Amino acid sequence: MILYFSATGNGKYIAEQIAEKTDEKCMSIVDCICEDKYCFSNEKIFGMVVPTYFWRLPRIVAEYLGKLRIENCGYTFFLASYGTTTGEAGSMAKKIMAHNGQNFDAYYSVIMPDTWTPVFDLTNKNRVDKWLSDGKKQLKLVIGNIMSKRKGNFIDRKLPKWVTAIPAAYMYATERKTKNLSVNKDMCVGCGICAKKCPVGAIQMKDGCPVWKAEECEMCLGCLHRCPKFAISYGNGKTDRHGQYKNPYTRI
Ligand SMILES: Cc1cc2nc3c(=O)[nH]c(=O)nc-3n(C[C@H](O)[C@H](O)[C@H](O)COP(=O)(O)O)c2cc1C
Ligand code: SF4
Ligand code: SF4
Repeated sequence: MILYFSATGNGKYIAEQIAEKTDEKCMSIVDCICEDKYCFSNEKIFGMVVPTYFWRLPRIVAEYLGKLRIENCGYTFFLASYGTTTGEAGSMAKKIMAHNGQNFDAYYSVIMPDTWTPVFDLTNKNRVDKWLSDGKKQLKLVIGNIMSKRKGNFIDRKLPKWVTAIPAAYMYATERKTKNLSVNKDMCVGCGICAKKCPVGAIQMKDGCPVWKAEECEMCLGCLHRCPKFAISYGNGKTDRHGQYKNPYTRI
């Protein structure tokens, strides 16, 4: 079983590729939460594919890992997708698992286009293509390692905890406030995709436009990237110039 949390499809694509090559199934962590599924036993392979947010784990993933129980599985792994730096994502996963007396056999990372468009410009096609081709090469190696049940920590671009811990926690807590998100009512056509697909139900439709009803969310930027009219922006206005992104090899 390969679990994934994915807003723009990078992690879903990675999970699907691993599942196809290892003859496993994939399941979204959001669906696992809806079905109250936290225990996995007797799996041939059990893996988790998640994005890096602010050098750490998305909140929903950290909470899920805290409740996860894996028993008697043949091989287990954690994989962080990332755009520039994994920071402490792997060590955070390891620490949460250790708290419950568990561990993954292996820790991996795969580079993908960086979906944090308040900073990164994804209208640059050459840059996006390079990210994708580097990611595909890394993924091929990772799948080889998974199939040979290699053990160890193979995560790239880590940062020590003393560098990341305080700024990462502070930044994620600040940046995930939904007041940073807004909709251009002239562009919105009221399709409701943003509200329907938000992983934490932070959006409700009111008078044909999204309203962020929760004060905080995961800040996955899924609503911004998936909106068919590109009507959603994040805070500083740069996201309007930096474009939208969905992984081209899967449906999200
Ligand atoms: C809120 C947020 C914060 C991010 N922070 C980081 C980061 O600290 N380091 C990094 O390398 N990538 C970062 N990224 C990029 C994502 O980890 C990367 O694009 C990932 O592949 C997205 O996965 P998905 O398409 O499965 O959602 C961030 C993306 C978002 C939305
Ligand atoms: S996805 Fe975009 S167009 Fe559709 S309701 Fe949301 S903001 Fe409006
Ligand atoms: S409101 Fe948007 S950014 Fe926040 S969790 Fe929902 S889809 Fe992601």
